[in-house]
Amino acid sequence: GVSLTLVILIVLLTFLWIRSKRPGDLPPGPTPLPLIGNIPALFGGDLLQVSRNLRKQYGDLYSLSLGPYWIVFVNGYDLLKEAFVKNADVLSDRPDTFSIKVLSERRGIVSSNGHRWKGQRTFALAALRVFGFGKRSMETKILEENKNFIEILEKENGKPMGLAGLINRSVSNVICSITVGKTFSYDDEGFTQAVNLVGEEISNPYGPLVDMLPFLQYVPGDMFLIKRSFKNKAILEQAVKEEIEEHRQTLDENDARDFIDAFLLEEMKHKEEEGTDFEDDQLQFTILDLFAAGTETTSTTITWAVLFLMKNMDIQEKMHEEIENVVGSNRQATLTDKTDLPYCNAVITETQRLGNIVPLSLFHMATEDLVLENRRIPKGAIVIPVLDSVQNDEKNFPNPEKFDPTRFINNEGKYCNQDKIMPFSLGRRVCLGESLARMELFLFLTSMVQKFKFLPPVGEQPPPAVGSLGITHGPLPFNVRCVPW
Ligand code: HEM
Repeated sequence: GVSLTLVILIVLLTFLWIRSKRPGDLPPGPTPLPLIGNIPALFGGDLLQVSRNLRKQYGDLYSLSLGPYWIVFVNGYDLLKEAFVKNADVLSDRPDTFSIKVLSERRGIVSSNGHRWKGQRTFALAALRVFGFGKRSMETKILEENKNFIEILEKENGKPMGLAGLINRSVSNVICSITVGKTFSYDDEGFTQAVNLVGEEISNPYGPLVDMLPFLQYVPGDMFLIKRSFKNKAILEQAVKEEIEEHRQTLDENDARDFIDAFLLEEMKHKEEEGTDFEDDQLQFTILDLFAAGTETTSTTITWAVLFLMKNMDIQEKMHEEIENVVGSNRQATLTDKTDLPYCNAVITETQRLGNIVPLSLFHMATEDLVLENRRIPKGAIVIPVLDSVQNDEKNFPNPEKFDPTRFINNEGKYCNQDKIMPFSLGRRVCLGESLARMELFLFLTSMVQKFKFLPPVGEQPPPAVGSLGITHGPLPFNVRCVPW
């Protein structure tokens, strides 16, 4: 008995040892250990720091063996293009990770693949266009929301405040008006709870870790916040379910009021179809996706801008002066002013660069073996577009840690070089909300800087520009005074 167990153990360990080895044709990386693979490599900090350290050692393409996956990191503008644009057929799916398979049930837009993803992405883009540019344009909706937001800031009377939560709710209201056809008061309890829970999930520092090491799901207790995620998921799903039901009760076949209505009408068209992707569960996840992908990213960018401006009074003054000259102080800037405000555009682009909001984008998966730089990316590998490598490319952006909008202004004073960064990622999975996000960033930030200067609390220095990483990379909480010019 004992010797048989011993033999089985030795065979098993040998198998694990061989399996743990990095095949010679894979992208390089630290030597994996039996059973634990490259887990020790994760001890070097968050995944962004880990990736930056590996890049110093291995170049633009490297890999880690983690849990059941090979994880391949792709860095640098040209290699990213080659991978995610030229080889889009192979690298446009999402992997089978915990958050995608279990939390998002492979529905919605962010987490679906194949036929479902294609159909839903196409539908969502069209619907966003209709509810964005149709009866009441997206711009009007953003401007209205922005007006309310500015009024609240005015009431604060220059007192120090944590602006992030307020920005989050205001940006979320824009998505609300598109998806559920209404906006909420900033002190609405249900709304605030929903916004906070979505934020909590997006900035959960353990999210990427649990995705790479699925066995962490089985660790007792809730150290990795998984039970918490399930609880949040249930609360959010219930809130969206109620909205869907309310919409169904009041649906007018001839007048889609918002995204939910449009989807319900589409559901009716596909009712007889077996296995249709247009069903309530899908709608529920799509709505949550638009919230999750559309709120935290945009509001985090705006919050970074406030922090960077607070640390650079001269830049703030220059931006304000440009707005004064072009727009004046009596009306809100609109999208038609955009081309006349090169410095404002440059400040926003520099914020997206240095804020580095989604530094590792979202996980992709190789659906077939693929050769890049003479290395094989194996079928089933998780592939990470390291957008950080583009945003912080020293060749294009000397002194990358410095906030300097003039990187995006040419000799003639024109806005330029914006395509040297890729904050919205690239390829077929490129951010679905890019144009909405660009409108929001422009309209929010110009009206904020038009009205207020951002100062640290009296007697304090502005906080350091450090962030923390979940899926998004956001600034640590800080207080700011919004003082009228
Ligand atoms: C995906 C960035 C705003 C909806 C993404 C991705 C990035 C990104 C990096 C991942 C792409 C990939 O998989 O490689 C940003 C940034 C934003 C922003 C920086 C704001 C400044 C928005 C908004 C919406 C939105 C406002 C809402 C309409 C989505 C969706 C996806 C996505 C649905 C998934 C696309 C897919 O899987 O096909 N975004 N985003 N995003 N974004 Fe955004």
